Amino acid sequence: MPRLIDPNVQFDAEMSVHYDGFVPRLIPDYVRIHELVVAQLGLALEENVRILVVGAGTCTEILTLADFDPTWRFTAVEPSTPMVEVARERIEAAGLSDRVDFHIGTIDTLEDQGPFDAATAILMMQFVPVERKAAVFNDISKRLKTRAPLVMAHPIGDPETDEHALSMQAWRDHIEETLKEHAETVYANVSDTLHFMSDDAQTAALKDVGFTEVVRFHTKMVFGAWIAIKG
Ligand SMILES: C[S@@+](CC[C@H](N)C(=O)[O-])C[C@H]1O[C@@H](n2cnc3c(N)ncnc32)[C@H](O)[C@@H]1O
Repeated sequence: MPRLIDPNVQFDAEMSVHYDGFVPRLIPDYVRIHELVVAQLGLALEENVRILVVGAGTCTEILTLADFDPTWRFTAVEPSTPMVEVARERIEAAGLSDRVDFHIGTIDTLEDQGPFDAATAILMMQFVPVERKAAVFNDISKRLKTRAPLVMAHPIGDPETDEHALSMQAWRDHIEETLKEHAETVYANVSDTLHFMSDDAQTAALKDVGFTEVVRFHTKMVFGAWIAIKG
């Protein structure tokens, strides 16, 4: 059984200050994923929209999206206080403070019910236990307007399959290349926190809470990225 993380421990002060240098080495295609998120939302959205950013971390997705369209506004949902501290500094340094609201906590405790024009969940759903994923999708869905997109990226797969084992091995090989002598410790720590669901089960869970179209637009090793449209 994967363990349930405490975001304030897994993403503590030390990790938070090193996160932006570390994560592009840990996650294959990290920068590409954020470029694709901008591309997807750039195609889907007009000006003056509000975007719900779940698991915002240090706000990389907000910085890239805000740069793409200067009229977009954001609500960052993030349970780790140290990550929010780093995020606030980055947002302030970019001159974006008046376009970003922060909520320190998880989505279920966000008072703002929207409705938002779009949502993102980049590299956070893997921390949600399988039996809780539908509730998180629902908490996002109920805050979205009809036809609003949700863009997500995270590790995915059915741990019972050979395909999944190969994808995990590919990621492990990648980490050995990028993190060298730290690779074994990092892989052991990170892989122990991943709550996997198959892609088919994820699509079914999304459809159960009102998303009508679910399209996977990126695959790299054990990572996938999707756009789902609220019906
Ligand atoms: C790997 S980071 C991704 C951050 C950012 N989205 C990015 O692309 O760099 C995952 C973030 O999700 C947050 N997180 C963990 N569990 C969460 C939950 N249940 N709800 C919202 N965020 C969560 C963590 O605190 C962490 O900041």
